[in-house]
Amino acid sequence: MMARARTAERVRAIEESATFAVADMVKQLRKEGREVFDLGGGDPDFVTAEHIGDAAIGAIRQGDTHYVASRGTPELRDAIAHKLESDNHLKYDPASEIVVTPSAKHALFIALLATLDPGDEMIVLSPSWVSYEAMLRFIGAVPRFVALDSNDGFRLTAERLRDAVTAKTKAVLVNTPNNPTGRALSGEEASMLAALAEEHDLLLVADEIYEKVLYDGVPHVSLGALPGCSGRTITINGFSKAYAMTGWRLGYVAAPRDITQEIVKAQQHTVGCAGSFIQAGGLAALAGPQDVVSAMLDEYGARRKLIVDGLNELGGVRCALPDGAFYAFPNIEEAGLGDDVEFAGWLLERAGVAVTPGSAFGPGGEGHVRLSFANDRTTIAAALDSMKAVWPAGVEEGRTPTRTT
Ligand SMILES: Cc1ncc(COP(=O)(O)O)c(C=O)c1O
Repeated sequence: MMARARTAERVRAIEESATFAVADMVKQLRKEGREVFDLGGGDPDFVTAEHIGDAAIGAIRQGDTHYVASRGTPELRDAIAHKLESDNHLKYDPASEIVVTPSAKHALFIALLATLDPGDEMIVLSPSWVSYEAMLRFIGAVPRFVALDSNDGFRLTAERLRDAVTAKTKAVLVNTPNNPTGRALSGEEASMLAALAEEHDLLLVADEIYEKVLYDGVPHVSLGALPGCSGRTITINGFSKAYAMTGWRLGYVAAPRDITQEIVKAQQHTVGCAGSFIQAGGLAALAGPQDVVSAMLDEYGARRKLIVDGLNELGGVRCALPDGAFYAFPNIEEAGLGDDVEFAGWLLERAGVAVTPGSAFGPGGEGHVRLSFANDRTTIAAALDSMKAVWPAGVEEGRTPTRTT
């Protein structure tokens, strides 16, 4: 008799995270003594602001080292409710409609777990973050990708959306600004989504983790604030990107109470609660000075220009200016260096520059690579120089496409 598999087929079928795989490769090469410019990950190079760190350290010193309410401390939930109302025009009751989680990633996972049954379909605008598909597959739900086209500025059209709706569609997942494209959803696209959700009675899951990283005054659209959407929208957000707090693992989900009531069960039976003193840090982030956020945005803006200009000087590379987030997502199809996976391998091998292949972000990502500019300008400039030094001659200089909006 064949031995029974020791691991679950459902999980075996899922690939390890592409971004973590790139990070592992970088570590290995550095161990071998190679100089590597790591533009693979989405971890801001900034250190968390001092007053946030002080608040968490102070909380530890005061003995705030115990379990707290599964939904999060009342103080932090109040601050989040206030933030959502003043920044996003979203009204959520802190007592019953907000759950503080250890990371936005966990917020999203338990939100999907609480709302999707096996076989339910979720429309996912693509390219999109690598973990969406894996999370859906973990719970037996089915991603229906709507592949957006870089030639069209990754614009969402009603036809593309409608083609993806089936009798099993239960929800739509939208990330704005988007990782990896940097595209921010326009008001018109958001209204289209709202109309579709209403027509087919769909849930909307809005991942707004990059909300604070938007350039040139491009406005952020919160789906839950659109007319008719508050009762069907689950808002995901967190502290990692806005406040450079990736290592803290702190996020939240806000949704109508019948949904958070189920989400909180998944939280209670998995992690229990987010860290007590971590939440004290989160409270300081929201309640404290916000100039730390704008200072980082100014710096990201300068890096955005540096990297996009540099990439467009490389033959066969076309890179649009992202509206938001801190990724450049150029099309590299005309560089003559293979598909995106081969290109990324070549770049790492020859130039020592680590990037993430676009196909890791689903349909629509092929032929592109993602370069993170959550790195200082010296690293970005050195990476560009290294790319230029090995770039094959004879490929026509990249054309600069219009911006993504
Ligand atoms: C689109 C998107 N959503 C959510 C997250 C998760 O953020 P957190 O660090 O809070 O888990 C990330 C992190 O890279 C992301 O890119």
